[in-house]
Amino acid sequence: MTAHIEAKKDEIAEIVIMPGDPLRAKFIAETYLKDVKLVNQIRNMYAYTGYYHDKKLTIMASGMGMPSIGIYSYELYKFYDVKTIIRVGTAGSYSKDLNLYDLVLVNASYSDSSYAKVQNKNEEDTIKASFSTNLYITQTAEEKNFHVSIGNVYSTDVFYKENDNFKRIIQEKGCGACEMESFALFHNAKTLGKNAACLLTISDSLVTGEETTPEERQTAFIQMIELALDSSLKM
Ligand code: HPA
Repeated sequence: MTAHIEAKKDEIAEIVIMPGDPLRAKFIAETYLKDVKLVNQIRNMYAYTGYYHDKKLTIMASGMGMPSIGIYSYELYKFYDVKTIIRVGTAGSYSKDLNLYDLVLVNASYSDSSYAKVQNKNEEDTIKASFSTNLYITQTAEEKNFHVSIGNVYSTDVFYKENDNFKRIIQEKGCGACEMESFALFHNAKTLGKNAACLLTISDSLVTGEETTPEERQTAFIQMIELALDSSLKM
């Protein structure tokens, strides 16, 4: 038990699949896992542990933003001996080549957040996902015939910006999309010697202004979840 997670140590699996939304964690667990147990309810940040084809997995929500995923991922890695966290989330597209519902596997995350500097004086502004975890995910995507774009994303602290200078971020940092959590997750994994990956579906486009509804996101979301779940079987 930690300040934010009430689960007993053996109630959390070595691999955690982490959506932002607690109700998505509930949906994934109830749809795909056998022998499911709800192991965290503090702040309604639900965590469920069960079995996917005999592999013990935990599905736990991260909440929104780097401070939130920073807390949960740190506690899971450090106090629950979690080895791998796969974030499954949504992103806004910065590129004409990334359309609504496209699936993205993050290679590296760029951020102007202070998270890494404040956490342990890490001055890097770009942190990579774990090589081996990404390899398992790309192999699984090939086997399933899923198209996945691999690229860098901008992990931002601010959703509503007065001046969104995203052209600079595309040109200088090579980011095709933005989200709000992967940089802190990758930093924690790197700092603690653990694995992290991030799969995203494009939910809105900053190029075309198109947006998806929560219902419309479901199909793309299911592809992403099945890719994360099946990849975990290789780990
Ligand atoms: N900005 C930041 N995070 C996001 C967005 C966005 O436009 N879309 C989905 N996650």
